[in-house]
Amino acid sequence: MSVQIADLELLNAVRDFGLMQTHPVVDKFKPAIDDWGNDWIDVGQAYLPAANLLDDAIVNGNPQTRDLLETFARHKDRLYWEQSYKKEDDVVSDAMLAAYGFAEIIGKQGPFVSERIRAGIGIYGPDIVYPRHQHQAEEIYIILAGSAKFKIGAAEEAKRSTGDVVYVESNTPHGFRTNDQSLVIYYLWQAGDLRQISSFG
Ligand SMILES: [Fe+2]
Repeated sequence: MSVQIADLELLNAVRDFGLMQTHPVVDKFKPAIDDWGNDWIDVGQAYLPAANLLDDAIVNGNPQTRDLLETFARHKDRLYWEQSYKKEDDVVSDAMLAAYGFAEIIGKQGPFVSERIRAGIGIYGPDIVYPRHQHQAEEIYIILAGSAKFKIGAAEEAKRSTGDVVYVESNTPHGFRTNDQSLVIYYLWQAGDLRQISSFG
């Protein structure tokens, strides 16, 4: 199946947002962002309630993040929204499962296929605790809207807000707590199994 114009709009928005970042930790992800290849898979569409938090969250964006937020909002009903955890895994709360989700744009399972990098959007509703977890890949969160208190490695918990870049080294425990607004993040993974399920505890 050929790539739709709408899909390319999303891809370009995700890629360009990564490439335009000036924070130095993003630099080492840029070669992989720029090298997404031409492979595309029709992953279909899947709905999660978290997708509907996007429209309200846009007002908490800033001039640097709003274009990307609006692009995702326009496409939210045709994206494949997913979660990494199930209730029976018993690793995250029911409240988190009710109000979080992510849509991957670049990754090893598509829709745009990369063996080098994983990129997409994640949405976490108000008052969610994402328990500390870890994975082999190094990770960046760029906050598109809202804020959360992040606990990464041995560092003190710190509030990060719209526009901030949060870097997590490989195999480093990390977690966060949202406040009374939804948190929307742009995520990047590289240098590890790009679909590894995080371990907890
Ligand atoms: Fe992570």
